[in-house]
Amino acid sequence: MDGVTAIILAAGEGTRMKSNIPKVLHKVCGKEMINHVVDTVKVLGIPQAVVVIGYKGEMVRNVIGSQVDIAYQEEQLGTGHAVMQAVPLIRDEAKDVLVLYGDTPLITPDTLKGLMEYHRKGGYGATVLTAQVEDPRGYGRIFRDEKGGIMAIVEEKDATPEQKAIREINSGIYCFKTRFMLEGLKNLQRDNAQGEYYLTDIIEFFTDRGIMVGGYQLKCPEEVMGVNDKKQLAIARKIMNSRILEKLMEEGVIIEDPDNTYIDAGVKIGIDTRILPGTFIEGNTSIGENNVIGPGTRISDCSIGDRNNIQFSVLRDSDIGSGCSIGPFAHIRPNSVLEDGIRIGNFVEVKNSNIKSGSKASHLTYIGDGDVGEDVNIGCGVVFVNYDGRQKHRTVIEDRAFIGCNVNLVAPVRVKEGAYIAAGSTITKDVDEYSLAIERGKQKEIKDWVRKKGLKK
Ligand code: UD1
Ligand code: CA
Repeated sequence: MDGVTAIILAAGEGTRMKSNIPKVLHKVCGKEMINHVVDTVKVLGIPQAVVVIGYKGEMVRNVIGSQVDIAYQEEQLGTGHAVMQAVPLIRDEAKDVLVLYGDTPLITPDTLKGLMEYHRKGGYGATVLTAQVEDPRGYGRIFRDEKGGIMAIVEEKDATPEQKAIREINSGIYCFKTRFMLEGLKNLQRDNAQGEYYLTDIIEFFTDRGIMVGGYQLKCPEEVMGVNDKKQLAIARKIMNSRILEKLMEEGVIIEDPDNTYIDAGVKIGIDTRILPGTFIEGNTSIGENNVIGPGTRISDCSIGDRNNIQFSVLRDSDIGSGCSIGPFAHIRPNSVLEDGIRIGNFVEVKNSNIKSGSKASHLTYIGDGDVGEDVNIGCGVVFVNYDGRQKHRTVIEDRAFIGCNVNLVAPVRVKEGAYIAAGSTITKDVDEYSLAIERGKQKEIKDWVRKKGLKK
């Protein structure tokens, strides 16, 4: 979309959010609200986006990346004043300006495209994105003349009871012809209930001078829901989540219970993978085809291959190959790499470890800071003793070794290829290839001890 600059207002504190971070940094489905808006603008191919920051601006700047220009609004003197701060950055070739808010994450590229086309075809000086809503409280009202032309936008705080009854609201999203907007901005006054420079006053300035103002009505008012408090944040999250799930289902993912499945924006999932209820898939995660994920599973920032079965488990910052079985009740912690055909069973924790194909740890085991070879069998209750109170050390188990139940491997230690460790051993020294290491007291037996003690007849 050539010849357009988008200005995204994000300088406000958002006091109703009652938060220590700026409103626009609250996340909806894993992505900050401001970044939802920035990404929508990028999808449209708009060549320039200027974000107006102010309240805790450095925090906002740090999350929006370098593909946008930044304008700084020192004092928050209103939406009109915020746009003024962006004016020096608007490129000469931008014939139109699209104004958006950082707190309306649900706006879609389709709607903005429709607005822009309507604006350009109609030759308007300004086009306002409006919506008919049940409950217009808190929004500016669209005031039309008898012929239906937009005359002005009246803020709730300045509205008469009659105007308050109007149910067509200002979304806060507009398209302006740049040169008219610049003129309008110069003429804004602060003579209103809030003592602010209202961007909305430009509309009346235009109609007074015979500059045409268009109104583009939204079909789906939820798109322009401004998120001002944490109740609205929850509503936005719900709507965004169901959009994400619908898109994934269209792409071939099976989601058994969309009301109980939570997937972040940007997660990739292949066809015929089944997502069972109570599952959260977050962050930068990609999942291949034909997996069964869930029920009751949380996966964050992982890359997962095909045909895995992962249930009632938590996985973070790790790579999983294909054909693995994980859970129930497994915990895969950051920096773990599991290759193919691996079994990680119940109550097994893996941290910062590499496990090669075909290896198994089926029950009650801690694998921390380990390098496990191929086809290794790790028995029940094995502990990688990785921490000496000051430092972490690595445990290496080479291919086809067999670790018996209830073994402690005190790192740093290496169990070489094909070696066996007898159950109950505490291993502190390296074990050679194909050897058996056994480290436990000899079994004693005191004959008839129980009867002599009189414990049983
Ligand atoms: C604004 C509109 C109202 C519209 C509503 C839609 C005006 C005067 N009113 O009201 O007609 O119905 O949005 O949600 O424009 N901001 C700044 N700097 C400022 C003030 C605001 O950057 O000095 C930013 C905020 O961070 C926010 C956006 O502008 O992202 C909207 O500000 P807000 O105070 O929420 O405006 P509303 O009162 O909701
Ligand atoms: Ca608002």
